Amino acid sequence: MALTDHDERLLRRAIALARKARFDVEPNPAVGCVLDRGEDGVVGEGWTAPWGGPHAEAVALAVAGERARGATAYVSLGPCGVHAKTPPCADALVSAGVRRVVVGVGDPSPAEAGAGLARLREASIQVDLAEGTLQREADEGLERFRRTLGRRRPWVVLKWAMSLDGRIAAARGSGGAISGRRAQRLLHTWRAHSDAVAVGIDTALIDDPQLTCRLADGPPHGRPQPRRVVFDSSLRLPASSAMVRSAAEVQVLVVCGEDADHARRTALESSDVAVLPVPVVDGRVDLGAALEALYVHGVRRLLVEGGAKIHGAFLKAGLADQVSAFVAPRILGGKDAVPAVEGSGIDTAEAMQDLEEVMWRRLGDDLLMQGYVPA
Ligand SMILES: NC(=O)c1ccc[n+]([C@@H]2O[C@H](COP(=O)([O-])OP(=O)(O)OC[C@H]3O[C@@H](n4cnc5c(N)ncnc54)[C@H](OP(=O)(O)O)[C@@H]3O)[C@@H](O)[C@H]2O)c1
Repeated sequence: MALTDHDERLLRRAIALARKARFDVEPNPAVGCVLDRGEDGVVGEGWTAPWGGPHAEAVALAVAGERARGATAYVSLGPCGVHAKTPPCADALVSAGVRRVVVGVGDPSPAEAGAGLARLREASIQVDLAEGTLQREADEGLERFRRTLGRRRPWVVLKWAMSLDGRIAAARGSGGAISGRRAQRLLHTWRAHSDAVAVGIDTALIDDPQLTCRLADGPPHGRPQPRRVVFDSSLRLPASSAMVRSAAEVQVLVVCGEDADHARRTALESSDVAVLPVPVVDGRVDLGAALEALYVHGVRRLLVEGGAKIHGAFLKAGLADQVSAFVAPRILGGKDAVPAVEGSGIDTAEAMQDLEEVMWRRLGDDLLMQGYVPA
């Protein structure tokens, strides 16, 4: 059935809602959903919750409750029909008694291959697909999702908190808390919505971080604590570190070089640490191989919390997907303070690394910048 002006307006609304999910949901697609009952108007809307949380349809159905019965669902992306982290959205729409589903664009993932739309049709729900400009608008929001299809490594978010002068720590000193309370609270929710949180061994040695989600009410959405990962070519992580001491409660994965000392490996393993040996490049852990190993261990979204050398190495290897950086109105100063990104750098400004779809947000006195690293 051709879409009416009313359909087009509400589908555009669903596409706009999908944008609100960006930066929190990848490698899942960012999706928006609007439930409408014609003369009664919109009875529920929502967008994909952060990684590991409910999909857009489930969020909108929870808002609408019983009023979803007989409604038309406008979804920017075809509802999923296979069971993944959450139950299939197509089933949820069927059970809620939705009458018709208007879809921006079909799901491009091979795992889906139209399963959701087939499920809806089987249940005699009318399915209408957008065409032309509207379909292209819905499709544009899927660029990041497409990038991850068939890829056997996690989505990588580089996170740092820096002073106004772009420093993440005083000269090789502890990272301390550079950003304010609101930024730190958000960081703890990001940890809960990641499968794992990683640092380089120098950050582990200098700051001795726990890398857990420490919110007063515990991780949101009943999420488990994220696993902790350390990139540590020669297994320098001491048994006395906060992470190793708590490895029995929250898993620690240490990625090391294949030639790392056997005795150190045995000592860490006897403290419940999982050691993942991978090839080395220039004497250091090959990050591409490290990501593949983490993927095999079920890590789909990885939050990399520094430090400078690790950020530089991820960017140089083209293995970072997203940057989420806090900027605090404080000045560290001094040429030896630690910059946000180390590595060999670039010779001319033309070679600068641009970020895409950049979003700025104010958090108390701090700013948060999020952007995607171009493919
Ligand atoms: N404000 C913030 O947001 C924040 C966050 C984190 C850290 N920090 C600060 O950052 C400082 C530490 O940063 P950092 O740059 O000195 O160290 P880092 O990035 O934490 O760790 C670097 C180490 O990681 C290991 N590594 C393993 N594989 C690597 C690879 N492929 N490429 C590069 N390194 C690899 C190397 O040691 P091996 O060769 O022995 O493996 C390397 O020396 C600390 O002062 C900390 O407080 C601040």
